[in-house]
Amino acid sequence: MRIIFFAGKGGVGKTSTAAATGIKAAERGNRTVIMSLDVAHSLSDIFDTEKALINQSKGQPAQVGENLWIQELDIQEEIEKNWGDIHKYLSTLLNTSGLDEILAEELAVLPGMEEVSLLLHINRYARNNRFDVVLLDCAPTGESLRFISIPTTLEWYINKLFKIEKTIVKYARPVAKRFYDVPLPGDAYFDAIERLFEKLRGVDALLTDPEKTTVRLVTNPEKIVLKETQRAFMYFSLYKMHIDAIIMNRMLPDALTEPYFQNWQKSQKRYVKEAEAYFQPVPLLPVNLFKGEILGFDNLKTLGDRIYGKRNPLDRFFDGTPYEFEKIDGKYQLRMKLPFIDKRDVAMHKIADELIVRIGGFKRSVLLPRQVAALDSLKATLKGQYLLIDFDE
Ligand SMILES: Nc1ncnc2c1ncn2[C@@H]1O[C@H](COP(=O)(O)OP(=O)(O)OP(=O)(O)O)[C@@H](O)[C@H]1O
Ligand SMILES: [Mg+2]
Repeated sequence: MRIIFFAGKGGVGKTSTAAATGIKAAERGNRTVIMSLDVAHSLSDIFDTEKALINQSKGQPAQVGENLWIQELDIQEEIEKNWGDIHKYLSTLLNTSGLDEILAEELAVLPGMEEVSLLLHINRYARNNRFDVVLLDCAPTGESLRFISIPTTLEWYINKLFKIEKTIVKYARPVAKRFYDVPLPGDAYFDAIERLFEKLRGVDALLTDPEKTTVRLVTNPEKIVLKETQRAFMYFSLYKMHIDAIIMNRMLPDALTEPYFQNWQKSQKRYVKEAEAYFQPVPLLPVNLFKGEILGFDNLKTLGDRIYGKRNPLDRFFDGTPYEFEKIDGKYQLRMKLPFIDKRDVAMHKIADELIVRIGGFKRSVLLPRQVAALDSLKATLKGQYLLIDFDE
């Protein structure tokens, strides 16, 4: 099964590009589902799907074309289905602590529940082979970043804390009952967590396997959007997910000669150059600004043609990771693959949280994680095709 994430800042074109990719993938005979957590449910809107069809589907895949489905998760229903007992325990707990019952129920929705529900679906499709392709129309960057950290965090919780907690509660319950009003979680709570974890097993391996899963970052040629794209690039890399393309959406066409737009055209060109320095060797796929909103099957299909041309949208457009961070004996190291370099050519500058590496006329810029950005000393060594940069205080 092939999985592609479409991530990026709010409004950059994630839903449109995911939908366009879906059409191209389905055209080639792949059973394709486009999934979204968007509460505004814009997928069905841009496909112009009849509301009746979506209402009927109730969070299940709704067919919108040959080999093509869209699935908009209904978060309330997901919570009841997957989180019933956990949610019940948490709301009782909050309610006991004096909160109004309705408020307690609302607050007992843990951050990440929605995202985990999405992971559950992905994992099920990977196991039951219902689809060949799953495309994810992600929430705006901030939230989708939280989402990718969940499998790792959950694994840690289950392995490190869960078993201890379960044992403590088992022995503590008779004693605790006499002293505290707060209810301790019952068997149903622990069973529910275990069931959930079983359903999620393997999803982290799936998401970090570049043969199966890649991320396409959607961006626009504008300063603030690009900065956020850089940040997303770093986080996805930290979680060892593979970014295989940057979709540079909303480029003004060169044919546009109206003087009014000349400044825009100039600054867009400048930002495209910058983006190349940030993301190389991951390819940039430019897409023109359309004459109007992109609505309906035919417009989306045209968008798909503009993004991919004759290419297969399911190909991996880039193999490998341009850089990786590692912590070795408590020290941070950045590993960058730069073939054909000579150490004499390398110059580095750190400006705030950004590291700029110049090699001859070539510039590569990397946004640093917070802990790493705080370190001042840099040392570069060359090892085969890799430039290793050690950070120290
Ligand atoms: N290349 C383009 N040309 C013209 N209009 C575009 C282009 N790309 C996207 N749009 C329009 O911009 C709007 C936002 O696009 P879209 O909904 O795909 O963004 P999004 O990243 O999913 O937004 P959100 O973060 O709100 O989910 C839509 O009206 C869409 O039709
Ligand atoms: Mg959207």
